[in-house]
Amino acid sequence: MKVVRLSRQWLSIIYQKPIQEHEKVSEESIHIPIMPNEIMDLLQVQAGKTIVDGTFGGGGHSALFLEHVGAEGLLIGLDRDPLAIERGGKRFLDSASLHAANYADLPEILDVLKIESVDGILLDLGLSSDQLADNERGFSYHAEGDLDLRFNPNEGLPAWKLLEKANEKNLANIIYDFGEERMSRVIARRICEQRRVRPIRTADDLAQLLRRTVPRSKNHSIDPATRTFQALRIAVNEELKWLQVALKRLPGCLNIGGRIAILSFHSLEDRMVKQAFLADERLKILTKKPLRPSEEEEQTNSRSRSAKLRVAERVR
Ligand SMILES: C[S@@+](CC[C@H](N)C(=O)[O-])C[C@H]1O[C@@H](n2cnc3c(N)ncnc32)[C@H](O)[C@@H]1O
Repeated sequence: MKVVRLSRQWLSIIYQKPIQEHEKVSEESIHIPIMPNEIMDLLQVQAGKTIVDGTFGGGGHSALFLEHVGAEGLLIGLDRDPLAIERGGKRFLDSASLHAANYADLPEILDVLKIESVDGILLDLGLSSDQLADNERGFSYHAEGDLDLRFNPNEGLPAWKLLEKANEKNLANIIYDFGEERMSRVIARRICEQRRVRPIRTADDLAQLLRRTVPRSKNHSIDPATRTFQALRIAVNEELKWLQVALKRLPGCLNIGGRIAILSFHSLEDRMVKQAFLADERLKILTKKPLRPSEEEEQTNSRSRSAKLRVAERVR
């Protein structure tokens, strides 16, 4: 099958946002794909199939998909992060159709590519190890760079601006709802007190405030900054909103017999996926309970520990 690639100009027209060049992007990804065997089996990735990786990231799952769909198949990779797509473009050259785009826009991408429906879709939610390792984007608690936290630096407000503008109650709600942080009110109050004296601009500024405010967990396994960073990231990227939109739109992009797999790392996301699969008459659920990584995988890849995989098949 011929690989259809959109030029930058086309993508800019579709998304009405310029796609910037990032010269410093390396070809290497450090992200380790999670539950690769389970995903390959359940999505039935085979020669000749058309598979969508809606969260391309470091291209770990995509590399496996490409290997199995072969020259007769097609891999379409999407990511909101233009840097991830830039890196993927260097790695996969012309073998995949890669797009800097939100997975919720898959129907529009398929229209442009003149593809009616696909055989499999993967969403591997959250952030990649490459984003975490980039000191300029604020995902890492130790970074001196701005606390940005956006997957797409051209879209929406950076987290430091949210911390500057949001009122105390809204901040507390964000930290509680998206971080499930019991100390949300105290944290919000401390943020508001501190910003009156000095703006909270870097990831390190916020991490230091959180370490002064939140007691360490008993076995020191969770950094006191973890839940608040996660909450702010989910808020600035509107992650739950886009997941909800995708859960409505993506099953319609599947062939009858086509499958969708969603890996989530947060109880709110997993609940949304479970309920949407249950409520969608087009889908048959293939994972009554979410699948979890093997003990071995949890030991070798700590990021996999909170992963839950749900898969459904389009039956009508
Ligand atoms: C966990 S990583 C994916 C890693 C990938 N499966 C791999 O093996 O390398 C999640 C990726 O999803 C992207 N992402 C998050 N929300 C998105 C959305 N709404 N649309 C497209 N990509 C999104 C992030 O930018 C990030 O690169």
